[in-house]
Amino acid sequence: MIAHVFPDYEAMSAAAADAVAERLREDPSTVFLLPTGTTPLGMYRRLVEMYRRGEISFSKATFFNLDEYLGLPPDHPASYHVYMKENFYGHIDADPDRIFVPNGAAPDPEAECERYEAAIREAGGIDVCVLGIGRNGHIGFNEPGAPFDSRTRVVRLSESTRLVNAGDFDSDRAPEYAITVGMATIFESREVLLLASGTNKAAAVTAAVEGDVSESVPASMLKNHPNTTLFLDEDAASDLGRAVVG
Ligand code: PGA
Repeated sequence: MIAHVFPDYEAMSAAAADAVAERLREDPSTVFLLPTGTTPLGMYRRLVEMYRRGEISFSKATFFNLDEYLGLPPDHPASYHVYMKENFYGHIDADPDRIFVPNGAAPDPEAECERYEAAIREAGGIDVCVLGIGRNGHIGFNEPGAPFDSRTRVVRLSESTRLVNAGDFDSDRAPEYAITVGMATIFESREVLLLASGTNKAAAVTAAVEGDVSESVPASMLKNHPNTTLFLDEDAASDLGRAVVG
């Protein structure tokens, strides 16, 4: 695990977008696993700009999303289907047949999880996984305690995550359940890029980087991953000891 620290959110986002663009140029058929949330918005914006300038094409790439709320149909304004369309997929030349987001409204959620995991396998696994990190150290919707050998499954969200994510809903809490790609599936990605910005992520980043590898801090699993890079702004890195910052 190496960490790059940037002066601010914009610089961190630019570096993350450059890394994604570089992978795409090396291999136009890269298979991506992508996050939602506020953190990756700057990266997506830059990737769209690069596409509009003709610098990159996504037409041969494959895209999976990390998670989706259970019970939300794909056209629900707070769904991650809509988030990805509005912030990324709707502005680039991605092939709709190679865009995968878990269907939160599937009649049989367990079967949907199996279908999703099989689609990742059929695509040859994930080449590049981009992650945010929750204040509690979650990755995707793998909350503290998520087994490292878990696969795509239905999970119950923690109270803190439901409160933090409530803003998208006409309610004081986000939904209680979600579908998330599992820890083992994330770990098998050939490369992981984890993005974090802001002082409210500093404790989670420090626990992941400097603490023990433990299911109680899901992101700590990445310390055992052979090819993980953290993209941090100074605020997110503010609790880290200098020794680990590359
Ligand atoms: P955020 O979410 O980017 O909105 O902070 C990150 C996460 O919960 O994984």
